[in-house]
Amino acid sequence: MPIRKHALVGWAVWGLCLPAWAQQPLLLPTALDAQSTVLVLQEGMYPFLPGSPTMSMGANGPVLGPTLIVHQGDDVSWTVVNALADSTTLHWHGMHVAPENDGGPHTPIPPNGLWNPTFEVLDAAGTYWYHPHLHHMTDHHVSMGIAGQIWVRDATEQALPLPRTYGVDEFPLILQTKGFDAMGMVESHTNSDDVAMVNATVDATLEVPASVVRLHLLNGASQRVFQLGFSDNRNFHLIATDGGLLPAGLALNRLRLAPGERAEILVNCTDETGVTFDLMSFASELPNAVYGASQPGMGPGQTLTNYNPNPLNGADFPFLTLQVVPAFAEAVYTVPTVLDPSHVLPWTAADADVVRTFTFSPTQMGQGALNGGFLINGTPFDLEVMNFDVQLGDTERWEITNQSPIGHPFHVHNTPFYILDRGGVAPEAHEAGLKDVVFVPAMGSVRLMMQFNDFAHPDIPYMYHCHMLTHEDGGMMGQFRVLDGASSVSMPTSPVPAGTFAPNPARGQVLVDWPPGAEGARVVSGTGAVVCTGTRASLGSQWDLSGWAPGVYMVLWEGRVASVTSRLVVE
Ligand code: C2O
Ligand code: CU
Ligand code: CU
Repeated sequence: MPIRKHALVGWAVWGLCLPAWAQQPLLLPTALDAQSTVLVLQEGMYPFLPGSPTMSMGANGPVLGPTLIVHQGDDVSWTVVNALADSTTLHWHGMHVAPENDGGPHTPIPPNGLWNPTFEVLDAAGTYWYHPHLHHMTDHHVSMGIAGQIWVRDATEQALPLPRTYGVDEFPLILQTKGFDAMGMVESHTNSDDVAMVNATVDATLEVPASVVRLHLLNGASQRVFQLGFSDNRNFHLIATDGGLLPAGLALNRLRLAPGERAEILVNCTDETGVTFDLMSFASELPNAVYGASQPGMGPGQTLTNYNPNPLNGADFPFLTLQVVPAFAEAVYTVPTVLDPSHVLPWTAADADVVRTFTFSPTQMGQGALNGGFLINGTPFDLEVMNFDVQLGDTERWEITNQSPIGHPFHVHNTPFYILDRGGVAPEAHEAGLKDVVFVPAMGSVRLMMQFNDFAHPDIPYMYHCHMLTHEDGGMMGQFRVLDGASSVSMPTSPVPAGTFAPNPARGQVLVDWPPGAEGARVVSGTGAVVCTGTRASLGSQWDLSGWAPGVYMVLWEGRVASVTSRLVVE
C-alpha cells in the first residue's frame, strides 16, 4: 500500500465547474539528441482539462515540445518550421548565442516560414528552454502551449555521478498555471490563472525509482511565482540554477522560482518504495507584492483585475504526485557535494567597465498601479529604438531598482550574470550561481555583474525584460546592441516564392512546381520527422504519395530558397 506522508489528498480544479477525474500520468516530452533537429510549430487540440480537448499550440505535437539534449562544443543546426497561422519566433532562453540565432522579436518567422539557426553550444551544463518571443504575442503563444526544455551537458557534469536516464530517474518538469474561459479555451493576458499543471498535465502522477531522482524544474508560467517544496517537507538538493551547476550542492526544503527561472534538484528516494508524496507550491508562504501571494500588491488597497478570488493565490497547492517504485539497475544512490567550483562570481563591483541603472516604475500611480503597464527607465519598449550599446568584451554592472508595488523577474539575453548583491547584501547560496533571471522585489534593488563576450552585431539587438509575459508584452522590455567597433555588412535578403503542389490537398500523385533556385527538398511531418529527402533531379516534379499517411507535411526547399516552406496536405 502506498503511504501518504501528508494530509493533502486529492484536489479540485479550482474555480472551474468540472466533473472530478482521476489523476493521470505526467506527459513526458520526447528527448532528442538534438544536434540537428526540426521543430514544427503547429496548432492542435489538447485536453489541458481532462476530457475536454481545446485549441493548443506545440512543437512537433499539439502541446509543449521535445526536450533538446546537446553537449557543450556541439555544432547545432536547428530548423524551426512555422506551421501556425500566426507569425512567431522561437527563442533559446539562457543560451549564449549570436543575436541572429537568439530568436528574439527581431527574428520573426512568418506562417509557412522557416528559420535555421546554426551555432556552437558554448553554455555550461544546465537547463535552458525555448519559447516564442514575438512582440505582443509572447504570452499568447506560450499560454497556448509552446515551450520546451534544452539540456546542455558538459565534461564537468558528465564526470559527476548524477542520474541521467531520461524519463526514469531524470525528468523535465515544466511548471505552469493557465486560465480558461467559460468555453474551456486557454486565455492569455489573464490574471485568473487558476489551473496548475506540470508538462501540460493537470493532477499528474509520476513513478520515480527508489534512488536519487533528478528533476529539471522550469517556471514556465506567464506570471505566477512558485514556492516549491514537498508535501512531507523533505529536503532536496539544489545542484543547478539558470546558467549551470552550483559550486556545491545545497540541502533545502523550499525553493522560490519566478517565471523564466530554472533549477535542477536531486530528490533522494532511496529505500522509499511505496512512498507517495507531492511536489507543491507553498504559496501561503509568499510575501505580499508577489504574483501568487494572496495580495499581489503591497497591501489590500492594491488590487489586480480578476486576480482574487483564485484558490491558488496565497494557498498551498500540489503540482505532481511522486510514487516511489523499486529502483532499476543503473540507479544512482549518492548525492555529490562538489559540483562546479568554477561557478563563483569572478569579479568585484570595481571590475565593471560600465555601470548602468535600470528603474522599474508603474505607468499609473495609486490604486491602479498593478493594472497599468510598467516602464524601465521611464519608457516602454519600442522595437525601433535601441536603448543602449555595449562594447564587446566589457564587464558591466547593472543596478536595478524596482519602484513599483509588485516584484518583477528581470531577464537578460546573451549572457548569464552573477548577482553581486540584493539591497547591498551578498546573495544567498542558492542565488550565488550563474543566473539569467533575477527576481527584483517590490521597492527592492539588485546589482548584477556580467561580461559581453563573443558576439557583436551592428543591427540585431538582444533583449532585457520582465519575464512576467503580460508585463513583457505590455512593454516592460528594452534592447541593446553589442558592438565591436569594426563595421560589418548586413546581407540584403529578397523574398523568394515558395513551391506549390497541384492538387493540394492531394492523394496518389501530386505535381510539384519547384520554386526557382531550389536544388532539393526535405519533407517533414507534424512530429518533426523527416519523411523524405532528395535533390530536385532525384525527386522530380511528380511525387507518388500512395505510401504517405494522411496529414499535413511541411516541405523545406534547399538551395537559395531556404527561408520558405510549402504546406502539402495528404488526404
Ligand atoms: Cu525567456 Cu526574452 O525570454
Ligand atoms: Cu531569454
Ligand atoms: Cu513585471
